[in-house]
Parts: sequence; C-alpha cells; structure tokens
Amino acid sequence: MRKIILLLLIVVSFFSCYQPKVAPPQEVKGAIGENAMVATTHPLATAVGLEILKKGGNAIDAAIAIQFALTVVYPQAGNIGGGGFAVIRLADGEVSTLDFREKAPELSKKDMYLGPDGEVVQTNIRLGHLASGVPGSVAGMWELHQKHGHLSWSELINPAINLAYSGHLLTEGIANSLNEKQNNFQEANRYQPWVINDKGWNKGDTAIQKELASTLSFIQKQGRDGFYKGIVADQLVKEMILGGGIISAKDLIDYQPVWRDPIKGSYKGYTIYSMAPPSSGGIALIQLLKGSEHLGFEKMEFNGAEMLHYKTELERRVYADRAVHLGDPDYYEVPTAALIDDDYNKTRFSSIKKNKKTASSEMKEGDVAPYESTETTHFSVVDPAGNAVALTTTLNGSYGSSVMVKGAGFFLNNEMDDFSAKPGVPNIYGLIGSEANAIAPGKRMLSSMTPTILEKEGALFLVTGSPGGATIITTVFQSIINVIDFDMGLQEAINAKKTHSQWLPDTLFIENGGISTEVQLDLEKRGHAIRFKESTSKINAILVLEDGSLEGGADYLRSDSYAEGF
Ligand code: GLY
Repeated sequence: MRKIILLLLIVVSFFSCYQPKVAPPQEVKGAIGENAMVATTHPLATAVGLEILKKGGNAIDAAIAIQFALTVVYPQAGNIGGGGFAVIRLADGEVSTLDFREKAPELSKKDMYLGPDGEVVQTNIRLGHLASGVPGSVAGMWELHQKHGHLSWSELINPAINLAYSGHLLTEGIANSLNEKQNNFQEANRYQPWVINDKGWNKGDTAIQKELASTLSFIQKQGRDGFYKGIVADQLVKEMILGGGIISAKDLIDYQPVWRDPIKGSYKGYTIYSMAPPSSGGIALIQLLKGSEHLGFEKMEFNGAEMLHYKTELERRVYADRAVHLGDPDYYEVPTAALIDDDYNKTRFSSIKKNKKTASSEMKEGDVAPYESTETTHFSVVDPAGNAVALTTTLNGSYGSSVMVKGAGFFLNNEMDDFSAKPGVPNIYGLIGSEANAIAPGKRMLSSMTPTILEKEGALFLVTGSPGGATIITTVFQSIINVIDFDMGLQEAINAKKTHSQWLPDTLFIENGGISTEVQLDLEKRGHAIRFKESTSKINAILVLEDGSLEGGADYLRSDSYAEGF
C-alpha cells in the first residue's frame, strides 16, 4: 500500500497539483525498507528523496533534492534563504560534516540590535530585513554535490522546480502556520507576497510559486552562482537596500561553507558522530550521554520522577556550559576537548543532588523569556549502498524574518537572533549567551542543530536529528537513550513523550500527558517548576535493524512527517 501511494505521489508531482494523503502507521513501528529509507517532515519531500534514490542517486544526491523540495513544500523551515549542517557517513565508514550555517554580514556590529536605552530591540533581530544572516544553503548543497554527488546537479533540482511551478496542495499544518504569520508577512514585506491571503489559507489550497521556480531554475543552470551572483543576488541585495537590511553583494559572493571535523564520542559501545561548533549540538549531546552513563538512566523507570529529576539537572548543567563556552570556532577558542572530557563531566554531574534541584543562581543568574514558535527541519536518508546523511536546516523562526525576496519567491532567515545580542538576554528559544557568541562581521551564530549518526561495532546504526531550537539537543538525546537504554523500537522512541530543560528559563517542559500526577508532585517537591507543552520537538530518523533492514521513524504524531523505504 505504501509503495502504491508513493508511486502515485511521484508520478503526479511532475504534471499537476495534488494532495498527499498518507495514513499514519497503525502500529508503533516505523516504515521498513530492505535497502533504503528517507524520513522527512513532508510526504512530498520524502517522495522526492525516494525518486532520486530509485534513479540511482546516492544518499547525498537525495539529500540535496530534498533540501530544495522542502524550500517549496515546507516554506516555514525548508529553505534556500537559510542554512544548516550535514553529517555524512559513507558506506566505507568515512564520516564528514558540512557547516553551511549563515554568517553575520560584514556591516554587522556587536551592539547593532541595542536601542538607545541599551536594551535589545527584539523586532529588529527577529522580524524584517535586519534579522537575516548571509544564507548558506545553496552553497552547502553545491559543496555536497561537488564532493559526493553522483547524479547531475540539474536532475536534483528538477523535482523542486516542478513542485514550485505546477503547485502543490497545502497540508492543514502548513495552512494553519501561514495563517498564524499573516501579520508578520504584512509587516515585513513592502509588497504582497503570495503567502498573504486575506481570506485565510485552508488545507487543500494550491500553492503555485512561479517566482521561486524561476529562482530554482537559475540555481539549476548556474550552480551556486545562480544564487550568489546574477539576477537572484541582485534581487536579494535590492530587497536589503529597500527594506533596511545590510547583506551586500560582496557578502553573497564571499559566502563559503566549511567542512569541519565531527564531534566524536562513545556511549555504551556505540560511536556517536555529530556536529561541531558553530553548532552546540554535538558537544552538548556528548555531555548529555556522558551524564546518562554516569547517572545510569537505564536503571530508572522511564519518565519517572527519579529519571526526570536527574535528566533535568543534567540538562541544566549542559546548557549552562553552552551559554558560556560555545560560539563560532573561527572567532572564539571553544574548549571542545575539555567539555567532552570524561573527568570534567563526571565532576560536573557529581554535584547533582538526589532529592533537590540545584538553584539556577548557584550555577549562574539570568532572565527568562517565554517560548515562541520554533521551526527548523531535519531529515535522514540511507541509500542502498549504505551511505547515510543526517541533515538539519533552518530559517530560525517559522518563516525566518518573514521577508520574502521580491521577484525571487523565497524567505530569508532571522538567524541573527541566534547570536547573543546582549550577554544574558535570551533569544526566541530562551537561550542566553556570552562573549563566545557575540555578533561580529563574518561570524557564524551559535546553533543547536544536532544532525547525528551512530555506529554499532563499526557499522551504521542510527541516523537522527530534530528541529526545535533549544529543544533539538535534548530531543536527539532522548531518541538515542530511548532506543539504547529503554529498548524501544525507533517509532516507539519517537512517539514517546519528551521533556526538556535548559538551565534558563528555569523550567522543566513536559509534553502534555507525559507524566502522571504522582510524578508531577514528586518533581515539584524536588523543586522543579513544570510547564506542560503540546510538543517539544520532532524526530525524523532511521534505525538499522538486526537483520540489516531499515526502520524509518517519522514524527507523524507531531507533524506531517513521513518515512518511506524500499
Ligand atoms: N536557529 C536554531 C538553531 O540553529 O539552533
């Protein structure tokens, strides 16, 4: 049945508009594939990935095609106007990681978001032209293709162009998110981009994006130059000049992605590869796993009071380290080795008390901010040869800066908010920072994106990652311990209720229905301030099963995510 649905999606996608209709799995078991698997946040993007793999493309080809397709079908986070990180494990075991994170424009200044009163002007850093960093996604995809691509660049962009040109039908989730952001779209744009709709968007409405199709065609014909030079670059720079932004033609031409050494660690015999700074994800994940090993979560009741107390205390310490020590390694000496050192973490976590939360003021003080909408997107791919890609990409907030480049049809990020605009002042994720993550021209802002690949006895085991701003790291952590320590299947691990804490705000977030009243009272007695949320974050992951087949887990309970294999 899955195969038939998918075939239909692929065939129809190139000729007309269509509505994906995918029933979530009836049992707590992900999609199973003998040879290959794709898990993304949108059925159409998954279909594009599978189509590329079936044509003989490798996992990297599929990832590139998915990234461009998500720009069309998942505009709140899929992007060419943002950036991200990719962790790649080739079938021969070689692991590499690509940083295509946005950069601060050359005209940016450390205090550029501070008003006359010395306070951060939140609207400037979150909404509109000044909020954008120099986009890295197209250069990132081009770099991936130069190094690992098998099919032609042109073939990989075709599906996205067809989706943009012919149109696709909006899912309920995307229609709702477009409706929520109407005021932002009005405020941030000098014209009426297609997303503005006075009557409101509905599930099943058609999104035709001819301007975006044209932009993608330039990229298809000219490679990275089709975005960073020529007509599209001119449109972006004009948008900046007219809207009060500072990204220049030189910023675009100069942008380069960077291959970085992965953050590598071990956990109970498994080897973990994740993203190095400027993402905090890899270091923080290794710290969390070391803490889990030290504290022995596997001996505790899953999501019981004891486990959640220790897990929360562990997370608070790791996020306190993040706030002080992490930033762009090209600008700040990040103490990576010290932070993932066994002895350091053992000592750090030994201060956790059994029955009592440690006061945040004993670690460090700071103000809190409420959570806002968090959007990023992660996808995982494994091809028939065994190559694997974990890729997380973002515009930062949902629809980024809300600025759609006039004539070019794509959203720009509001990634400047991931910098620490003022020490101790939280960003939209409630994260605070320090000098390590201060704004500087050409610098990359600290991220939480955690694309991660695990090996078991030298062979591919798990490909995972998540969207969700600050919650990314703890969600990826839970996806790993749920499988390794609590013996869950992948889909079960994804469906399981998640919790999150991050030092400041000084709150333990728990998904609705995640704990019993008894556990809640116990945690409150230990000093935890609990806040329930509808969801924390969404995993799209792939697990290699004992017989060598692949389980694709998609977070269909919390999103439109869809996994499919063959
Ligand atoms: N913009 C969210 C992150 O990079 O963590």
